[in-house]
Amino acid sequence: MVTRSLKFWASSLLYATLLRECHAQQSDANIGSELGGKLSSDASIYFPGSALFNNATARWSQFGKPNISVVVEVANKYDVVETVKYATAHNVSFIAINGGHGNIDTLENVHNGIEIWMHKLNSVQISAKGDTATFGGGVLSHQVIESLWASGKQTVTGVCDCTGFLGPALGGGHGYLQGRHGLIADNFVSLEVVTADGAIRTVTDKGPESDLFWAMKGAGHNFGIVTSFTQKIYDVPNNGVWSFVKHTYTQDKLELLFQYLNILGNNGRQRVDVMYWATINRNTDVDPVNPVIDIFVLQEGVETMDAEVSLSLLNFAPAVTVTHSGPYVNISTWTEFNIGSRACDKGDEGPQIARFPINLKSYNLEALRSAFNTFAQVTANNSALTHSTIMLEGYSNQGVQAVDEASTAYPHRDDTILVSSVIISMTAADRPAAMAFGDNLRDIFHTGTGEAEKHVYVNYASGDESLESIYGYEPWRKNKLSTLKAKYDPENRFGFYAPIPAAGF
Ligand SMILES: Cc1cc2nc3c(=O)[nH]c(=O)nc-3n(C[C@H](O)[C@H](O)[C@H](O)COP(=O)(O)OP(=O)(O)OC[C@H]3O[C@@H](n4cnc5c(N)ncnc54)[C@H](O)[C@@H]3O)c2cc1C
Ligand SMILES: *[C@@H]1O[C@H](CO)[C@@H](O)[C@H](O)[C@H]1NC(C)=O
Ligand SMILES: *[C@@H]1O[C@H](CO)[C@@H](O)[C@H](O)[C@H]1NC(C)=O
Ligand SMILES: *[C@@H]1O[C@H](CO)[C@@H](O)[C@H](O)[C@H]1NC(C)=O
Ligand SMILES: *[C@@H]1O[C@H](CO)[C@@H](O)[C@H](O)[C@H]1NC(C)=O
Ligand SMILES: *[C@@H]1O[C@H](CO)[C@@H](O)[C@H](O)[C@H]1NC(C)=O
Repeated sequence: MVTRSLKFWASSLLYATLLRECHAQQSDANIGSELGGKLSSDASIYFPGSALFNNATARWSQFGKPNISVVVEVANKYDVVETVKYATAHNVSFIAINGGHGNIDTLENVHNGIEIWMHKLNSVQISAKGDTATFGGGVLSHQVIESLWASGKQTVTGVCDCTGFLGPALGGGHGYLQGRHGLIADNFVSLEVVTADGAIRTVTDKGPESDLFWAMKGAGHNFGIVTSFTQKIYDVPNNGVWSFVKHTYTQDKLELLFQYLNILGNNGRQRVDVMYWATINRNTDVDPVNPVIDIFVLQEGVETMDAEVSLSLLNFAPAVTVTHSGPYVNISTWTEFNIGSRACDKGDEGPQIARFPINLKSYNLEALRSAFNTFAQVTANNSALTHSTIMLEGYSNQGVQAVDEASTAYPHRDDTILVSSVIISMTAADRPAAMAFGDNLRDIFHTGTGEAEKHVYVNYASGDESLESIYGYEPWRKNKLSTLKAKYDPENRFGFYAPIPAAGF
């Protein structure tokens, strides 16, 4: 495969461009003869113009798209090691890509980079005891969900079938089961990590490199490429049944709804079996003038949602209601996060999507109304931004709070609500307006918290946030992260996802 692809592309102009622009230390550097010969027989190298190059580089959002000149489709951990060594020796940027859903602007700092395409590392092995499973570092969320389901097991994952499993996990990772079991990263038992020096390190809570294990749980994109990982898994309870409801309301219900969601949130002790999302978006079928409010609720373990949860929402007289119940693996279809849904659409063209996240502990109703009004005005004025959405996610947080905040790099365990204005602009020309819109909405929510600190989830960050808002304000935490950066990645090779400076921040 390597040989055939290389023959075909050896005379390509793009190939020449790569060599010219990669600051090669040896001018005759040749990724084909130098790297290709060191890769396993199942690995391949692709250049622009090939169909598989397009597959490998397709993005969910054009905002945050890395600029890639060559794709190395790795087939085992040694291929990752060889590619990292090649890239560092030639001072070429490289980036591991898994689900292709990352959309922080720092990914755009990859210029003429090597993409390490992870998708072939998709092995699954459930332990004999059935309490852990070991996966390849390129598994997608749905591969984890479905392979465990087939054995009556589950673990915490992101909610979207087609994101990588580790993209979310390395930033902490939020999902439906976090109320019971903590963040995705809280369930790591061990990680096999290729660091910038090309070493393969197996890290755990106890070993000599437990400091790297700590960093991988919240700041992981900064430290290495995970080639495999072992995760805690759990028996599926209650036959894996869940119930779902989605209500759509007109805007006059805003205060009533969010007052109710504050009650459901129960001062950080939301019931572990119930989670919700709310969105503010335009839906002209329901209201041609104003944005509407959607509320999605999931309850674990029942076919019919408890009246305590469902009745209040019905009493607020939704304009539209959709309900489902069935097995856990069907949730992504109800929420439209399944393979084939728009959330899984990727391409080398398409909208620019940036999020402007902020964490909350409860809703300030005045701030919410103010954000709603701004959203209504801007989306009415600027048709390029009209597909934007404000997302407000209320997962149960009890399992997250049960983990000592100092014990991982994830800094914001007491925050219970993830708000993110998802600003969708149709062309790059609308980007300045989109940024201003997102920052404006976030400022309104931040002012409403009455707090000086602004807490941001790294995996939703647009990239214009301060590093302390992403990684935490405590001096010991900032110092620890920079010290670890200096130890494991002094040259900042993993410098494309909210990069932590080795010199301190
Ligand atoms: C539709 C949608 C739904 C989402 N749902 C959730 C959710 O439920 N929970 C949640 O927490 N987040 C969620 N997110 C945010 C998500 O965590 C980020 O978008 C994440 O970056 C996606 O990872 P990816 O592998 O798909 O993206 P990629 O763009 O492939 O990768 C993102 C980053 O992760 C790094 N990376 C990927 N694989 C590895 C690896 N094996 N080793 C080291 N680094 C690696 C990449 O180098 C890159 O820096 C969602 C995002 C979208 C767009
Ligand atoms: C490449 O993309 C096509 C079209 O989306 C898809 O059918 C195919 O399975 C993909 N191949 C790989 C290896 O991802
Ligand atoms: C990467 O950037 C170069 C210009 O520096 C451009 O010619 C090329 O098309 C870009 N590649 C991709 C995949 O966007
Ligand atoms: C490596 O590349 C970076 C970015 O292109 C450049 O700033 C730096 O000077 C290069 N280092 C060497 C040793 O060539
Ligand atoms: C779950 O999804 C499968 C596959 O899409 C479908 O056949 C089945 O009917 C669904 N089950 C329920 C209860 O909706
Ligand atoms: C929307 O447009 C009107 C009229 O041009 C203007 O007065 C108003 O400030 C605009 N609002 C926003 C939020 O841009």
